Amino acid sequence: MSGEREGFVGVFDSGLGGISVLRALVDELPHEDFRYFGDSANAPYGEKTEAQVLDLSRDIVERLLADGAKAIVIACNTATSAAAAALRAAHPDVPIVGIEPALKPAARAFPHGRILVMATEMTLGLEKYHELARAWGGECEVVPVPCPGLAARIERGDLDAPDLAEMVGRLVGDYAGKVDAVVLGCTHYPFVRAQISRALGPGAAFFDGGAGTARQLRKRLSEEGLLAERSRAGRVEFASSLDTPEELALYQRFFSLP
Ligand code: DGL
Repeated sequence: MSGEREGFVGVFDSGLGGISVLRALVDELPHEDFRYFGDSANAPYGEKTEAQVLDLSRDIVERLLADGAKAIVIACNTATSAAAAALRAAHPDVPIVGIEPALKPAARAFPHGRILVMATEMTLGLEKYHELARAWGGECEVVPVPCPGLAARIERGDLDAPDLAEMVGRLVGDYAGKVDAVVLGCTHYPFVRAQISRALGPGAAFFDGGAGTARQLRKRLSEEGLLAERSRAGRVEFASSLDTPEELALYQRFFSLP
């Protein structure tokens, strides 16, 4: 067994949102070891500049690689839009898998539907999103819904508090009963799917990029001969730039949510 196969998969996000992706990664690849890094001290990324997100992402990836990561998952739509191309150019030998709003499966399921794409202002403003909408929007009505403040609010935990449901209601309430599908284009948002669903009323289908990202990671590890060859379950470790026991306990709690 090569030393590289022994390495872990480094997964990062601006904070705890990427834990929604980590769940899908562990389900798809239960024998891999994962190290999750949440940059909660610098969240939210969606309200920073593209250059700041690139710098932060570069530092995180360099540290994960120095610690022995064999592959990287950018579990953040915003960081993928701002940094994936530069990170791949800087580390051509490392599989680097990003995430993008799951517009493609949503448009396939509702080819003439009205599809909300909820994401950070940065994700919806960058060229990568416009390319995605041009490529897959087809005959759909694609409605971008920037959600300033939502990821930062989710970072605080306390998902059942009324202020969070009210915030979600302000963001999407106008579309109640009027949408076929919702794309959760920020990895924090699957944690408030129930609140979004309540605000929109019954009938909207939900799409997020977690499962697609997990399949892409499997493909890339397999192509590079990097899939773990072991029978034991993989390990999952958490680290955060907000390095307190409370923050790490919050990450663990989010990882255990259904
Ligand atoms: N979770 C991130 C994403 O997928 C970004 C949230 C933020 O930090 O603004 O876009």
